[in-house]
Amino acid sequence: RTGLVVAIDGPSGSGKSSTSRGVADRLGLRYLDTGAMFRAVTWWMLRAGVDVQDAAAVAARVPELEVKSGTDPLAPTIEVGGTDVAVEIRSDEVNAAVSPVSAVPEVRAWLLELQRAVIAEEAALGGIVVEGRDIGSVVAPDAQVKVYLTADPAARALRRAAEEGGTDVAATEQSLLARDKIDSGRATAPLVRADGAAHLDTTHHTLDEVIDQVVALVDRVA
Ligand code: C5P
Repeated sequence: RTGLVVAIDGPSGSGKSSTSRGVADRLGLRYLDTGAMFRAVTWWMLRAGVDVQDAAAVAARVPELEVKSGTDPLAPTIEVGGTDVAVEIRSDEVNAAVSPVSAVPEVRAWLLELQRAVIAEEAALGGIVVEGRDIGSVVAPDAQVKVYLTADPAARALRRAAEEGGTDVAATEQSLLARDKIDSGRATAPLVRADGAAHLDTTHHTLDEVIDQVVALVDRVA
């Protein structure tokens, strides 16, 4: 599978992470969670006291960033400025701030370069599954396999609440719909179904079924 790139995009809670990690694990590929990179940048900005609603203020701090992603699908890691932030990036504060930070063009341009470097390196070594919002459309438009995952908002909220250990499913649904709205409406690299992406609606499917479907798509091309 050398050179293989599998791009998995979709809104929050559509099952991207579980599906991407499952596919990578089954096929012996590496895994990159670009959402974790945007979350790490957001955590750093919050900790630095930057007003995340002020795009110019966010952009001004981009040169100070240092982000590192580990690509083992069974144990992905994320560091910013040398600090492991795997737990911190799932907080309510980061959930509320990540979409405005991710809409800042300078943040996207900086991460785009890093994402492409990781993808090129891992693809050369044996293939990678990459998840996000703009992977098939912008980050890796030449990916051999592109998937656009969706699910009904209620199903997405239930899954996210379960993952985060939260019990307030209605609040979780509000939070992810708010992020979807900003992510789909922004000017730079909005969430879209990329040209050629297979649309899988996961609402009525188990994780294993969705992984099977993506693996079947990969088997067709590589
Ligand atoms: O995938 P996850 O929910 O962790 O992503 C968090 C946020 O990061 C998204 O709501 C979006 O604002 C941003 N993001 C992005 N582009 C990506 C991946 C994530 O803008 N490729």
